[in-house]
Parts: sequence; structure tokens; C-alpha cells
Amino acid sequence: MERVLIAGCGYVGSALAARLAADGGEVWGMRRSPAGLPADVRPLAADLRDAATLGRLPEGLTSVFYTAAADGGSEDDYRAVYVDGPRNLLAALAAQGQRPRRVIFTSSTSVYGQSGGEWVDEESPAEPAGFRGRRMLEGESIILGGPFPGVVLRLGGIYGPGRTSYIDRVRSGAAECPAANTYTNRIHRDDCAGALRHLMHLPSPHPVYIGVDRAPADSCEVLHWLAATLGQPAPRRADAAVPPRSNKRCRSARLAFSGYTFLYPTYREGFASLL
Ligand SMILES: NC(=O)c1ccc[n+]([C@@H]2O[C@H](COP(=O)([O-])OP(=O)(O)OC[C@H]3O[C@@H](n4cnc5c(N)ncnc54)[C@H](OP(=O)(O)O)[C@@H]3O)[C@@H](O)[C@H]2O)c1
Repeated sequence: MERVLIAGCGYVGSALAARLAADGGEVWGMRRSPAGLPADVRPLAADLRDAATLGRLPEGLTSVFYTAAADGGSEDDYRAVYVDGPRNLLAALAAQGQRPRRVIFTSSTSVYGQSGGEWVDEESPAEPAGFRGRRMLEGESIILGGPFPGVVLRLGGIYGPGRTSYIDRVRSGAAECPAANTYTNRIHRDDCAGALRHLMHLPSPHPVYIGVDRAPADSCEVLHWLAATLGQPAPRRADAAVPPRSNKRCRSARLAFSGYTFLYPTYREGFASLL
């Protein structure tokens, strides 16, 4: 039987935990305040930044996921959760003589600094423009260079039930298209969970996968589609051209070719499910 630890069991981690528990596995959800985890998921209170709290992990773990997210946007917040946390968790697993088959880390497409609308895949250079991407890359290398086989899933913007900022902006009339075309990449929460579960079972995985849906899209295209679907006026374009922080098209072909079938292959199916 699978014995799975999900460290940082929040929005994505809880959806994953529920699926793995439904598969019949024994699943522990770790976070600092573990109340309110899905039924059948065992709560585990610990702080990944504090090695002393990781001393009593469940025994005989077969797979470990690291899905914690930073508390805030500062470099210290990022270092604590994406660098210190993975290091502490791997050290605790090793010190307890655990031998998980795989440790899977959720990273971000922010590790790619490309901003000219170009296509990006796992072989593209990952040269982040800011500290957020750099700290994520550091976390990835800790997992991939650690004592257990590691896999990294680089997620785009996560949306789903309760995370509907695009829809909310269009509904309220506050949506505005950027002055210039800006490609965005996203993934539904249930595809995050589905892809992570798929990677847990995949024989001989690559070290790195991009986790976005099959349709990177200009943000204005998405807003116009939502407006038309909701019967709202089409959002206007902003006048002032602010250079986008990110503008790239991430390709998830590696994940798809490995056998993962997206529940929501484009934003159209994903957003339609939330309307
Ligand atoms: N949101 C996005 O659009 C996006 C995009 C790309 C990648 N990602 C990555 O995808 C992953 C999943 O994101 P998410 O949206 O599911 O995150 P989330 O809902 O914000 O969940 C993060 C969880 O981590 C726990 N956590 C944070 N710090 C912790 C610590 N020091 N020790 C133990 N637990 C801790 C939090 O619970 P407590 O506060 O109770 O500890 C929370 O339940 C994250 O790694 C995130 O960086 C997210």
C-alpha cells in the first residue's frame, strides 16, 4: 500500500491528497495548521522551516510530495519555503532511514525568464529574471540532487474552485487587456493533482516536467472569451504599454506524451467548469 506524505498540503496538495486517499493509499497532509484537510487524510502539524518539528515523520513513506507555497513575496519568504524547507525535509527523511521511491516538487514556470512570447519547453534555458525564479530553481536542484529520486513539476498559474480572479475581474467590469499581446500559461487545480499523481506512478520519469494546459494564450484572448461567455462587454485595451513581467508560451508536450490526459486541456473547458 502507498504511504504518502504531502508536505505543504494546501490548495493543490489537498486535491492530490483526496485523490490518493480515494485510490486506497495512506496519506498524511503536513502543514503548520492542519485543521480542515479532506476526510481520510491524516493531519500532520509541522513547520518545514524548522527542522526540529520534522523529527517524527510517518514511517515507511513510499512517496513524498513537496507542495508548500511561500507566505509572502519577499526573498526571505521564498528562501524559507523553497530552499530551507526542501533541505530540511530531505535531511529528516534521510535521518529517519526512510527510502521513498520518489520525491516530487512543485516548482513554477517563473524559472523561465523568457519574455518575448517565445515557446518554452523543459530543454529551454531556465534563467529567471528575478529572485522568485532563482529560489525555485535552487529548491529544484536540492530535490534533484538529494538522496532520493526526485521529479520537478513546473506549474503555471493555478486556477479552479475558489481561485477565479480572471472570471471575477470580467464579471465586475474591472478587466483590462494589456496594451501589447502577453502570453499566459495556466493549469486547473485538478490537473495539478492529476499530473502529480501520474508522475508518482510513472516508470522512469524525466527529472523535469512543465505543468500547464495545452493552450498558452494571450491574456486578452482569454478575457474576451470570458466576456463573450458571460455576456459582458469586451474588456478594452490599456493605453500605456507596461513591459510584461512574463510573456512566454510553455509547452507541456512532455507531460502529455508521458501519458497524462488533461481534464481541462484549455482555459475554455477549465473556466466553463467554474461558471
Ligand atoms: N498559485 C499558483 O498559481 C502557483 C503557480 C506556480 C507554482 N505554484 C506552486 O504550486 C504549489 C502549490 O500551490 P498552492 O496554490 O496549492 O499553495 P497553497 O494553497 O498556498 O498551499 C501552500 C500550503 O503550504 C503550507 N505551508 C506553507 N509554509 C509552510 C511551512 N513552513 N511548513 C509547512 N507547511 C507550510 C500552507 O499551510 P500552513 O499555512 O498551515 O502551513 C499551505 O497549506 C506551491 O509549491 C506553489 O509554489 C503555485
